[in-house]
Amino acid sequence: MIVLVVYVALVALGAHASGKGSFAIAVKRKPRATAGAGRRLLSKADAIPLHSYGADLIGLYSSGHEFFLTVELAGKQKFDLEVDTGSPLTYFPCKGCPLEVCGIHEHPYYDYDMSKTFRKLNCTTSTEDAAYCNAQPNVLLCDTNISYTNTCLFGIGYVDGSVGRGYMAEDTFTLGDELAPAKITFGCGGMYYPDGSNLRQDGMAGFSRGNTAFHTQLAKAGVIDAHVFGFCSEGMETSTAMLTLGRYNFGRRVPELAWTRMLGEDDLAVRTMSWKLGDKTIASSSNVYTVLDSGTTLTVLPSAMHHDFMTHLNETARSAGLSVVVRGTHCFYENQRQSSLTQYTLTRWFPSLTITYDPDVTLVLRPENYLFADTVNLHAFCAGIMSASDAALANGEQIILGQQTLRNTFVEYDLENSRVGMATVQCEKLREKFAPDTPHNPWKFVATVFILLFTACVIGGVSLCLYVKFWSRKPFKYQVFADETLDKEIEMGDLADT
Ligand SMILES: *[C@@H]1O[C@H](CO)[C@@H](O)[C@H](O)[C@H]1NC(C)=O
Ligand SMILES: *[C@@H]1O[C@H](CO)[C@@H](O)[C@H](O)[C@H]1NC(C)=O
Ligand SMILES: *[C@@H]1O[C@H](CO)[C@@H](O)[C@H](O)[C@H]1NC(C)=O
Repeated sequence: MIVLVVYVALVALGAHASGKGSFAIAVKRKPRATAGAGRRLLSKADAIPLHSYGADLIGLYSSGHEFFLTVELAGKQKFDLEVDTGSPLTYFPCKGCPLEVCGIHEHPYYDYDMSKTFRKLNCTTSTEDAAYCNAQPNVLLCDTNISYTNTCLFGIGYVDGSVGRGYMAEDTFTLGDELAPAKITFGCGGMYYPDGSNLRQDGMAGFSRGNTAFHTQLAKAGVIDAHVFGFCSEGMETSTAMLTLGRYNFGRRVPELAWTRMLGEDDLAVRTMSWKLGDKTIASSSNVYTVLDSGTTLTVLPSAMHHDFMTHLNETARSAGLSVVVRGTHCFYENQRQSSLTQYTLTRWFPSLTITYDPDVTLVLRPENYLFADTVNLHAFCAGIMSASDAALANGEQIILGQQTLRNTFVEYDLENSRVGMATVQCEKLREKFAPDTPHNPWKFVATVFILLFTACVIGGVSLCLYVKFWSRKPFKYQVFADETLDKEIEMGDLADT
């Protein structure tokens, strides 16, 4: 998500941030990777699978197609953090946060008392903390005036109206299965919408720019070999994606990346030189500042560009015999009972989208990069492209390239060389090969053990019976009961049966 306003309503935070806490204060700290006590060789680059709670671009969890990274902290506590290349802060709820601020999510709040490395930043006891906090006045603020806790508070607002707030802390994070654990400065706090609702994921992982960004911290700590990360979101009907950290080598599985200059200071942005739908060049698509935003679902275009794109899309769809209905966005369907318009036949109906980035990076994208499947009508597809004026964006002159258009493009952000590399790939194939999903399912283990034990019991029981019946007549223990009364009962029973 794009950050809209920062420095919001920090005043109301005082009470929440002033938790008592019986933690020891480490005045001198040196964030450093601790390589898991030499147990195994740790790599300095990793490909990590990401998940979302739904496969639909617009679905049950309305902004549900956002991919989260699962991180682990002390006591195997896990958190699902939305990987957002559009914002800079990482945070999730910690114990003590009131429900109305932190809400209910996938996992319980972080119990930092289980951690030996957790500490809150403190602007009075640590000059380092104060410097860190004061250096980013737009998002962070030393609480020396509000409720005098001397905590470093954060406040951040996003274009969709949601707001995140809390205080800054530091602790050890484990992510992926190759990287050394890393000390990360993050926020203890929550995000909520104006109506008070929350997202299902636990929090955010800020992957845009600056000191607070997740990748910046990993690179500074030396956990990854370079200040580089990559993102690959999969096509329609999938709920997975992939994140690479460090300079990850896919060998020849990824075609050579084409590089474009990285723009902006707060955004991960590039310059678009043109959009072409089929062979029609879209008006106003030249020289447009473009933010690559993994945390936004759809794509937002400047109004004029959006209008021209839709006009061309309308024409193409109509001449292919499709009907158009405008329901918030333009949706296309075939006016027949038995429609052959499905996600597999999209290319028969719709042209490719060719995007060129400065100077000559050209990506030829499939219709799935501008259309999403309607959730009701299986044979209808809607344009996942919005106009900046509809999205009520303050800056209507830029493109925000969301999940919709990032699908099946591997994008590598090389912050060391201020450049962005791109290549169209099958992200799903790549993830299956390099970041295979091993969902950790404790029930599977329990079930396996149970089945094994059960089988052992049955085999053991049957063997025992057979043994007793055929091989060990002599020490027949049952003979103890074979007295006369018992015999009679058996005979009567036998009679009743006949
Ligand atoms: C802190 O409070 C003092 C006195 O109330 C005020 O003069 C000062 O401007 C405040 N500082 C900030 C950063 O708000
Ligand atoms: C920061 O340190 C001061 C002085 O030791 C202490 O009074 C205060 O509670 C601390 N604040 C936090 C948030 O740890
Ligand atoms: C596309 O066609 C629909 C239906 O005819 C119409 O309502 C809409 O305004 C058209 N859009 C553009 C951009 O021309």
